[in-house]
Amino acid sequence: MTEIWSAAPDSRRLEVAKLRDTGRADERDRTLMKLALGQARRAIGSTSPNPVVGAVVARGWDVLAAGHHKRAGGPHAERAALEGLEGIDLSGATLYVNLEPCCHYGATPPCTDVIIERKVGRVVASISDPNPLVSGKGFRTLAESGVSVEVGLLAAEATRLNEAYLTRVARGRPFVAVKVAGTWDGRIADSSGRSKWITGLKARRYAHYLRAHFDAVLVGSRTVLLDDPQLDVRLVKGRSPAKIVLDPGLESLRAGSKLLVPGGGRTVFVCGPGGAGARTELALALGVELWEVPSDGAEGLDLGMFLKRAAGEGFSSILVEGGAATVTSFMKARVVDKICLFAAPKLMGSGLSWMGDAALGGLEKGPSIKEIAVRKIGPDVLMSGYLDWTGSR
Ligand SMILES: NC(=O)c1ccc[n+]([C@@H]2O[C@H](COP(=O)([O-])OP(=O)(O)OC[C@H]3O[C@@H](n4cnc5c(N)ncnc54)[C@H](OP(=O)(O)O)[C@@H]3O)[C@@H](O)[C@H]2O)c1
Repeated sequence: MTEIWSAAPDSRRLEVAKLRDTGRADERDRTLMKLALGQARRAIGSTSPNPVVGAVVARGWDVLAAGHHKRAGGPHAERAALEGLEGIDLSGATLYVNLEPCCHYGATPPCTDVIIERKVGRVVASISDPNPLVSGKGFRTLAESGVSVEVGLLAAEATRLNEAYLTRVARGRPFVAVKVAGTWDGRIADSSGRSKWITGLKARRYAHYLRAHFDAVLVGSRTVLLDDPQLDVRLVKGRSPAKIVLDPGLESLRAGSKLLVPGGGRTVFVCGPGGAGARTELALALGVELWEVPSDGAEGLDLGMFLKRAAGEGFSSILVEGGAATVTSFMKARVVDKICLFAAPKLMGSGLSWMGDAALGGLEKGPSIKEIAVRKIGPDVLMSGYLDWTGSR
């Protein structure tokens, strides 16, 4: 489905025609939009809280320029692509972009301004931006200035690409994925709490690659106490995410913890109301942020409130890495969007299962898993998929 935005020439009224197949979304448009999506992918993990956006300027099959948004505060993709095309007639050119161009002043001026100034003839965008400051206004502004605007090309791919940003803006919380490394019988630690290493080196490398795509990695206090994890990206190239520990009593906040290596990046300990108390000084000395979050009765911390705070702090995505109690609490709160399950070809027969009773409602009401991907990584298998909570809330 392609939406054509146009300003009726006789009046300033806008019309949005929903057309099944205009013949415009042809192979060339698809190919060039794929190029724009590829540009955007180059910055995954680096732009938060901003979306990942790529842009391509082409005349016919002739690609004149391409660019992407590299980091929050830096030039947007449209400006990056149009830079250097000064003096070139772009009236017959198309700008392909995976997200609606912005039309407001933020850290940078509106992208619609530069598109209009350079007299770009046509803009093809994949999806609109749910940010209330944009949300269709970018398309309207362009159409009112005579730019031909088409929306909807490769929308599914573009939505997945920006799942983190779109979740935060539309739902007011970060995109949440759970990552588990377990055996075929679903155990993530043996009876004595040991979990190193269940999966092989290739899978662990892949897990670091995953981490580099998230704004934060989160674990529970017992994992910190038992495993003393670093939670950084060191097995592959990439930026380390922030680290978050759910620890109502701040028991795992200790000097010398591997989490707290100097220069190790932003580290947050989440505790209950009034929990910071006597440990505030220690946290300050260790360079750790303390977030007090209301409790949710017997369920522990109110994860809804925690996620709201995290979104407000600019986190668009969180990778929950365990252990079992932590994963269970996120599942119980129905705030998990995706599961990445590494299964090692081993059976423990006893030990800790990756999820306890999350009161999901059994076979009939439990969430189903969609868009499943399976890949073999060394001897291990990674199964990933999106949770469909419809009917189980
Ligand atoms: N193979 C893997 O993928 C993997 C990954 C991680 C960990 N592990 C293993 O898992 C084991 C630890 O798992 P675990 O289930 O025992 O503990 P855990 O999930 O690491 O930590 C549980 C603790 O975290 C805090 N917490 C978690 N969610 C909370 C919430 N919603 N509200 C309030 N507090 C919350 C609580 O701290 P308080 O008790 O202070 O209230 C809770 O007792 C270890 O053996 C570790 O090696 C395996």
